[in-house]
Amino acid sequence: MERLKQRILTCTACPLHSDRNHAIFGEGNTNAEIFLVGEAPGADEDRVGRPFIGKSGQLLDKILGACGFTRQQHVFISNIVRCRPPNNRVPTNREVETCIPYLHEQIDLVNPRIIITLGSTATRKLLNDESCKITAARGHWLQWNNRLLMPVYHPAALLRNPRLKKDTWEDFKKVIRTYRKLVDPSHCSEHFRE
Ligand code: URA
Ligand code: URA
Repeated sequence: MERLKQRILTCTACPLHSDRNHAIFGEGNTNAEIFLVGEAPGADEDRVGRPFIGKSGQLLDKILGACGFTRQQHVFISNIVRCRPPNNRVPTNREVETCIPYLHEQIDLVNPRIIITLGSTATRKLLNDESCKITAARGHWLQWNNRLLMPVYHPAALLRNPRLKKDTWEDFKKVIRTYRKLVDPSHCSEHFRE
């Protein structure tokens, strides 16, 4: 993992490296059973060098908190590409093809049972299915490389349209249920007991 980190932090394989302040390795428990995949760093992440620390990240932390999950203990958080695309545009196919092998390696090293893709781009790129519609795919478990994968809305989509939050909470209740079944039967969420 330390070698992977050094390769990511010094990567110059695509043009995105030239404007970056930081390449983002990811963070959390490197043995977590839940692996969260976002799209790409934004301005805040590029400035600080950590994933999901801007407005979307703060909402993500609230959702994780409601589930009884913390960044330090329960999850690892990473992205499809590691450097911020200009003006937060969607990463190009070329950029994704160059960068996504880092994500595949990182998932294998963390070896989670559960993967959650945040939003349309993360879902399409990880599943390698450009036709995937997040509104239809969200909330449904898929099998991906012998792991369970669930697409959910991106937190930025929830900030733009708060009415989607209800769906996302339903999706994360499924995650809590599966986490209890596969990982820790006594896992506690103040907001979801059953
Ligand atoms: N949005 C993402 O998809 N990833 C981040 O790290 C931050 C915002
Ligand atoms: N559009 C996106 O890019 N992501 C979502 O989660 C929803 C709409």
